[in-house]
Amino acid sequence: MSLVEIRGLTHVYSRGTPFEKTAVADLDLAIDRGQTMALIGHTGSGKSTLISHLNALLKPTAGTVLLDGEDIFASKASIRAARARVGVVFQYPEYQLFEETVYDDIAYGPKNMKLDTAEIDRRVRQAAAALGLDEAVFQQSPLELSGGQKRRAAIAGVLAMEPELLVLDEPTAGLDPAGREDLLRTLFAWRDERDATILLVTHDMSIAGRCGRVAVMADGRIVMDGTPAEVFARDGELASIGLALPDAAIIAGLLRDAGVALPPSLYTVDRLADAILALWAEKKEGGPC
Ligand SMILES: Nc1ncnc2c1ncn2[C@@H]1O[C@H](COP(=O)(O)OP(=O)(O)O)[C@@H](O)[C@H]1O
Ligand SMILES: [Mg+2]
Repeated sequence: MSLVEIRGLTHVYSRGTPFEKTAVADLDLAIDRGQTMALIGHTGSGKSTLISHLNALLKPTAGTVLLDGEDIFASKASIRAARARVGVVFQYPEYQLFEETVYDDIAYGPKNMKLDTAEIDRRVRQAAAALGLDEAVFQQSPLELSGGQKRRAAIAGVLAMEPELLVLDEPTAGLDPAGREDLLRTLFAWRDERDATILLVTHDMSIAGRCGRVAVMADGRIVMDGTPAEVFARDGELASIGLALPDAAIIAGLLRDAGVALPPSLYTVDRLADAILALWAEKKEGGPC
């Protein structure tokens, strides 16, 4: 059984008004345990609306969301359970830090789960450590942290709930390339340590290329779903919905056009670099060119 199964999900905003908007339209999606899935799509395609149903922040206009086969909207208790099991980090989560100290902010979720103080403390320290936050900042106000630290504190607050499914909406938005890489590695390390499942909403195609599965949304629907290689092979269709290939794939294409014999599916910088180095090694063995 899939960890999450979304069946026929529709979400209509401002129904019955001139502003009515169908943001998610009769969408089916299943996410299996242990998957790292990227959700990509142009702005306005419905990604944030979709993920807001996974922890019951939004209620479906139609359709159901099942967690381990149980409808999360069945009762108040099931909504509560879903909020503990599915952690959602919304876009620019640092704007939602509001407690007096960093410690209290990270502890907010676990406190809501009614855990005892020792367990809350263990989780806060573990989540902060996972995100590279020094305990020296615990008693500071979140407002005193740097931008990058604020983002990390906000994410730590969700990790401290030890969710089975971690959903992140554009977690690297606004970070510089080094900060992006650092955060991504941190999240993947956290996942590996506990076999968690991750759904990552991203505009960054190179990040999508590092996930096991990529789903593409357009106009409230999933229009492609597969491995990065399968999805990125459909570059014409991606372009028609306003999505470009990862930079590495574009560069690989330019090199192929220039006659360089590169293998297919080079959509991460690491793979492209390896392929170029392999060509270089072949050339060297073959003697001077
Ligand atoms: N609170 C809201 N009220 C009305 N329309 C909304 C609201 N939030 C999003 N929308 C609309 O729903 C559509 C999908 O938005 P969203 O889920 O934010 O997409 P994405 O995250 O892919 O950018 C867009 O047309 C957006 O304008
Ligand atoms: Mg969004």
